[in-house]
Amino acid sequence: MAERLVLVSPNCFDLKLSGLDLEVKTFPDGEDYARIPVSVEGEKVVVVHRCYPGQDQGLLQLFLIVSQLREMKAKKITCVVPYFPYARQDKRVKEGEAVSAGVVCQLLKACGCSEVVTFDCHFLKKEGKFKHEGLNINNLSMAKELIEKAKRECTDPIITSPDVGASYMSGGKNMEKKRGDYNASEKTAYRDIVELNMHFDVSCRDVILIDDMISTGSTMIRAVETLKKAGASKIICCATHGLFLNNSLDKLLSAGASKIIASDSISSSVSAVSTAEKLRAKGIL
Ligand code: R5P
Repeated sequence: MAERLVLVSPNCFDLKLSGLDLEVKTFPDGEDYARIPVSVEGEKVVVVHRCYPGQDQGLLQLFLIVSQLREMKAKKITCVVPYFPYARQDKRVKEGEAVSAGVVCQLLKACGCSEVVTFDCHFLKKEGKFKHEGLNINNLSMAKELIEKAKRECTDPIITSPDVGASYMSGGKNMEKKRGDYNASEKTAYRDIVELNMHFDVSCRDVILIDDMISTGSTMIRAVETLKKAGASKIICCATHGLFLNNSLDKLLSAGASKIIASDSISSSVSAVSTAEKLRAKGIL
């Protein structure tokens, strides 16, 4: 029996992993179909499956895969989910709000997931092993790899994150960001950035800006503008997860970023750092 059996979802083919292909298809009405193509009884199974883009469908597919692996008596079910969906609401800020990160963790646990391996999970805010809502999570960080790559593009850089949440990625230096409240009349749940402050000198210095994710790009764009105003030279933007909504990749370049580097947790034109290599280095694949 192999030490572990790796099953790869079709939405991870670009990660070029060696493993068996999972069958995941969609019925004409949009519902999902999943099939485990081999016997897994008594095996330690590692499933690699993306939950972005299409977080809801990606999660549902994962629930089907994991439940079936349990049904087929897999001994251990490790799910590699490069970008953990719904990671941004792990607390109830206003009474009545659903805590979506917790719900996702509970559901994965209930389906039979033994452990999730993910990267720079928003609510964990540091690398390591955690238990959240009963779910074991091994949170790996791509910070070292992103920074190594960015350092090749600049000289003696200052490394900072645009807010305190990602300061574990920059080594402790961060800018300070404040968001406002949700706009009650808008359908999109979004809190505008009301302030982004910096209390260190960057004049004539190259800067590496690093964050867990670039979603709408508002945070990074504001940070780049702040750095430019303060006289920074080259600015290299790094993020583990590059969602790049609202054309934010182009907007970041227009704001003054010299280069943008992301991992391949989400596939994009700037995915330049490999999550699969990290997984192999950690002995997970
Ligand atoms: C927030 O705390 C995160 O670390 C990111 O800074 C944020 O989620 C990025 O979102 P956006 O690109 O929409 O500003």
